[in-house]
Amino acid sequence: MYSEKVMDHFQNPRNVGEIEDASGVGTVGNAKCGDIMRIFLDIDDNGVVRDAKFKTFGCGAAVATSSMATEMVKGKTIQEALQVTNKAVMEALDGLPPVKVHCSLLAEEAIHAALWDYAEKHNIVIEGLEKPKNDISEGEEEEEY
Ligand code: FES
Repeated sequence: MYSEKVMDHFQNPRNVGEIEDASGVGTVGNAKCGDIMRIFLDIDDNGVVRDAKFKTFGCGAAVATSSMATEMVKGKTIQEALQVTNKAVMEALDGLPPVKVHCSLLAEEAIHAALWDYAEKHNIVIEGLEKPKNDISEGEEEEEY
């Protein structure tokens, strides 16, 4: 049911851990499943993401998508990092089962939250970045589980 890439990133997740004195830290949760994701970004003076790490209390799909998402934002500019959507991450992982799609939103939203934190610390506005939610299940349609 999971692609080989998902299994690989779940079993050998990349970029697990913390960055001390990170440029931006973002934490989001999903109240429905109780999972939490925290992403740390190290951004250099040119606005390029030097490093990205994550910590999670999340399911396997959340681990795999965060592993891939952190790999994808490394070396990118802030604007390019904003294009690393959950859809782009899922494509890079050769897809996720439909019931697990919401898990990939944790990574996207936590990256946005970390960028938001970075922007606030530096008193800048990142074009195209909206204030992230703390809980990605907010405003979602009620779904049956
Ligand atoms: Fe909660 Fe996957 S079930 S993030």
